[in-house]
Amino acid sequence: MQLFSMSRQDQIVRPLSEVAYYIERRPHLSVRDYPESLRFPPMLILGIETSCDETGIALYHSERGLLAHALHTQIAMHQEYGGVVPELASRDHIRRVLPLIRQVMREAGVAFAELDAIAYTQGPGLAGALLVGTSIANALAFALDIPALGIHHLEGHLLSPLLASNPPKFPFVALLVSGGHTQLMRVAAVGEYELLGETVDDAAGEAFDKTAQLLGLGYPGGPALAQLAGQGKAGTHKLPRPMLEQMRKTGNLDFSFSGLKTAVLLLVRREAPDAAGKADIAASFQEAVVDVLVTKSLYALERTGLSQLVVAGGVGANRRLRERLDGAAAEAGYTVFYPEYEFCTDNGAMIALAGALRLGAGSVGASLRPERSPLGGLANMPAAQRTYAFTVKPRWDLSTMIL
Ligand code: KG4
Ligand code: ZN
Repeated sequence: MQLFSMSRQDQIVRPLSEVAYYIERRPHLSVRDYPESLRFPPMLILGIETSCDETGIALYHSERGLLAHALHTQIAMHQEYGGVVPELASRDHIRRVLPLIRQVMREAGVAFAELDAIAYTQGPGLAGALLVGTSIANALAFALDIPALGIHHLEGHLLSPLLASNPPKFPFVALLVSGGHTQLMRVAAVGEYELLGETVDDAAGEAFDKTAQLLGLGYPGGPALAQLAGQGKAGTHKLPRPMLEQMRKTGNLDFSFSGLKTAVLLLVRREAPDAAGKADIAASFQEAVVDVLVTKSLYALERTGLSQLVVAGGVGANRRLRERLDGAAAEAGYTVFYPEYEFCTDNGAMIALAGALRLGAGSVGASLRPERSPLGGLANMPAAQRTYAFTVKPRWDLSTMIL
């Protein structure tokens, strides 16, 4: 299949300095909006996600969008242990990653030789699981002589609403609510992230998971708890709204969810609830978390003067959160953007997209042959990146990803 109308040699390659200047001057544009003259040559990127319990593979084309994607979830495998077993996760990624890559290439009708870059989740996540995707990405990139880009998992989540048919435009406020993170960020452009607030203890997803466990629900807890909450009455128990008072007094946008989880623990011990009682507790808990997330998100919009909110990460799939956010935003004149449901939780599409956007914004990735980079000969590529070495970053601060 012929993907490009021009040969690689004919493609116009813009100097990085010019592009960086353009992005700086016009931060309100999304990459898709760059004028023709400043567009990068079309790029086809393979995305590989193996940071936790999902093997996600996708092919993203910078102009044609998402060509194909596939996901294998390990939920059934971890279920009997009540949580993710890291060693089992790594082994399963090894089993799945190559067949899924082949499947996606076949579905898109693309040959390996047509790939321009490989984007993979380099962190944060489980070290062994990350190593699987990182090794395969670097090995493939080496064999094909194309760059391999290590992507920050949260940046993938953060940019995932750009995969939707009606994407937001920069700048926007992002509410990142995953199993490991709860953050509010001001996103000015790809690689321009300002942290407005984050959790000081448990992440929202973690609180959902732990509370689900207290109520005797299986893994993964979030969706099970949300489902049970749908059968209960949210007003039954008055649970704390952690750190809302501080926000009103000092403007603090941090979160804390561990106290809420403890309040549920005490409630469960005191009441020994039956099925209906558990549903009421689940609904009360969900409402407390949603209350905090909605109130703080709206305050972040007000404080930054922005009007678009992007919700990303697994908890973004929570229907009650969406309902409440949509209602509050409509009242205040804001717009809320969500990734498609299938791209809320971990997936390869968001990693391939982040890779495309990073390449478009000037990232070079690690390449043994810099002259084969889609951005042309990159004399300024750090020598260290031209080695055979690669690493994973199980702990990785998103603020270090500033371009
Ligand atoms: O983003 P994600 O797939 O993985 C991480 O990067 O952590 O998020 C997983 C988290 C889990 O804690 C899961 O319980 C939670 O998202 N989650 C939900 C829902 N769906 C997934 N939490 C509440 N309601 C849901 N519907
Ligand atoms: Zn995630």
